[in-house]
Amino acid sequence: MNHDNRERLIAEASKIRDIIKRRMYLKAQNVNEEDIDGILDDVHYRTRGRDKFPRASKMRFTRDGLAMATGKAVAEYRTWKIRKQLGSVRKALDACAGIGGDTIAMALRWKVVSVEIDPEMIEILMHNIEVYDAQNKVEVVQGDITKLVNDEDFKSRLGELDVIFFDPSRRGDGGRTVKTEEYIPRLSFIDELLSLCPNLCVKISPGTDLDRIKYDCDIEVISNRGEVKEVVLWFGKLKLDQEKKAVLATKLPEKMTMERVNTPKIKVTQVGDYLYEPDPAYIKARLIDTLAKQYDLTQIHPKIAYLTGEEKLRTPVLKTYEVMRVTSTEPAEINAALGELGIGRIDFKARGVRVDMKGIHKRIIGKGRRRGIVVFTVVGKKDRAVICRYA
Ligand SMILES: C[S@@+](CC[C@H](N)C(=O)[O-])C[C@H]1O[C@@H](n2cnc3c(N)ncnc32)[C@H](O)[C@@H]1O
Repeated sequence: MNHDNRERLIAEASKIRDIIKRRMYLKAQNVNEEDIDGILDDVHYRTRGRDKFPRASKMRFTRDGLAMATGKAVAEYRTWKIRKQLGSVRKALDACAGIGGDTIAMALRWKVVSVEIDPEMIEILMHNIEVYDAQNKVEVVQGDITKLVNDEDFKSRLGELDVIFFDPSRRGDGGRTVKTEEYIPRLSFIDELLSLCPNLCVKISPGTDLDRIKYDCDIEVISNRGEVKEVVLWFGKLKLDQEKKAVLATKLPEKMTMERVNTPKIKVTQVGDYLYEPDPAYIKARLIDTLAKQYDLTQIHPKIAYLTGEEKLRTPVLKTYEVMRVTSTEPAEINAALGELGIGRIDFKARGVRVDMKGIHKRIIGKGRRRGIVVFTVVGKKDRAVICRYA
């Protein structure tokens, strides 16, 4: 089937919501079974890809390729930071290009040499680069980066290399992995990449244990719209300060970054007028103390990532809840309080306390038209329900 015909069929099939009817439509167009499966996959991935790429409807994906690809918001943040740290950038090496999420974000700003080992992925990569009209900025190389780093011809083609981006596969036959020694290539390949260029940016899984990262690099946890997306290691001039290893958290889309600082122990108190829930990147990067110091807040338990205070704060990195009542975790007591407060539309949260979240809706009902949140957590040493309103 030629490219234009396939694209036409994908576009038509995308308009049909029902999956069975979609297949029937393609059959009626005399498309063979194998092509039908391929077209249905493309329709599916293009729809899902919209969360990551504004031009997803024209791009090509594979299941793993889409899952591992960096979405536009995060990729653009990284390119913004690379330019901020380096000044100007002439050329980058994307060592493991995949479907091209990072290659494209970089190629919209500077030249890129993109290496990918998988021939099927190479075709997809080249297609996606064209969707963004970036073909003149990218040199695509099919090959194994672990071998290419020792290939003199390849090295001479890199020319004025200012930065390397390395995003190893975190999926193998055994599924997704957070163990850095199981990445392909292994994370220790960093050492060889550093010998090509000291300015290196490495994307690793958000599930990684940060304490196991022993490299001389900054570690940054990035979230977008309240969800942790990745952990990034920054080397060379991409570090904020050459003299130290910073641990950073960044919340997108606001680009709000903070660095972990050493603080005296944070005070533990009763719940104040406001309860604060830190952005998950800040929790993952263990910046709770830093936030408490920055905003003059206390904790309700030394091991629980809620903060509290008497004043209403507005910052993108803290969700603010106004505390209405603190009760025991007995449903009858919670229901009575909810009734008095006129709260009938309830969201639930639990931290540090075991709660059957599925069954909770049956037991805690509330009464009234107001919206509220019941937070099950530990205050001092006791399990408590903190009934709040969205502030
Ligand atoms: C995590 S994905 C890259 C995703 C990419 N950053 C994006 O945003 O689309 C890793 C890619 O590295 C490729 N890869 C794995 N080992 C490689 C190697 N030795 N040389 C080059 N590419 C490799 C895989 O085929 C896979 O497509």
